[in-house]
Amino acid sequence: MNPTNTSNPEPQEAPWATQAQPHRGRVAVVTGAARGIGLEIALRLARDGARLALADTDGEQLAAAAQAVRQAGAEVITQVGDLSLEATANELMAAALAAFGRIDILVNNAGGGVILPFLAHTPETLKRTIDRNLWTVLWCCRAALPVMQAQRYGRIVTLGADSVYSGLWDHAAYNAAKGGAHALATGLAREFARDGITVNTVAPCAVSTPQLVELGQKDPALVDKFLSIIPMGRAADMAEVASMVSYVASEQASFVTGQVISVNGGSTMR
Ligand SMILES: NC(=O)c1ccc[n+]([C@@H]2O[C@H](COP(=O)([O-])OP(=O)(O)OC[C@H]3O[C@@H](n4cnc5c(N)ncnc54)[C@H](O)[C@@H]3O)[C@@H](O)[C@H]2O)c1
Repeated sequence: MNPTNTSNPEPQEAPWATQAQPHRGRVAVVTGAARGIGLEIALRLARDGARLALADTDGEQLAAAAQAVRQAGAEVITQVGDLSLEATANELMAAALAAFGRIDILVNNAGGGVILPFLAHTPETLKRTIDRNLWTVLWCCRAALPVMQAQRYGRIVTLGADSVYSGLWDHAAYNAAKGGAHALATGLAREFARDGITVNTVAPCAVSTPQLVELGQKDPALVDKFLSIIPMGRAADMAEVASMVSYVASEQASFVTGQVISVNGGSTMR
């Protein structure tokens, strides 16, 4: 027992976890898993031993992603639909529970920017920005939390954005949505702290997704501008984001909650 903190027992390592497979026996829901960072996170959690429920609006790409994740050794189910709608989020958690009997990890990755100067947005692009990046997170948390509370164990990890702190060009509306997701996580972290549930945000800066690579071919000056604020002088690899998500989603991160953890090459330092 730690003599300076007698109220909490020593953290027990989950009996099924090993260093090589920290998520062995765990069930993870990953939203927006059809491509990009979400797919990379799903592959990482699969290699780390998790069983997976993957969700996205894009059924065709999601099926291909699920196949790749199965090849990485995981049991996988998929759910297609718009997670900015409450019913879709509820159906996703119900499907995960029916397939695997529990939900240990929720990775709120669905999102993505509609990156425009603020006055160039239309009412439709503004709404889409908030729907994708905030309502998806809110509904998925609300659907997963009762399950995690009943288990007295859960890890929620939301993909936020370091641009909330850097005030990156053309990101105001996106930052409004991501900042809301950051704030939801701190509130939930406090509310569910005694239920064995941690809630954290992993906030990347620019990530080298296929889309960023494509944008760099079309408009290299714009991508150079986004990269100019990163001391390391490059975008993050998707695997660098996935490894932080895997850690925060693990049993080992048992005393980390309510944090925004930037994966940003030093672009903001707090
Ligand atoms: N790529 C970056 O540089 C970067 C930087 C900071 C934060 N992020 C965040 O990381 C996450 C992943 O980014 P990415 O670049 O891989 O994005 P992406 O656009 O390539 O993929 C996002 C996925 O989410 C899905 N999705 C979007 N809205 C959805 C909805 N309503 N319901 C279900 N699925 C939905 C999309 O279909 C897509 O497959 C996002 O939340 C993004 O905002 C990305």
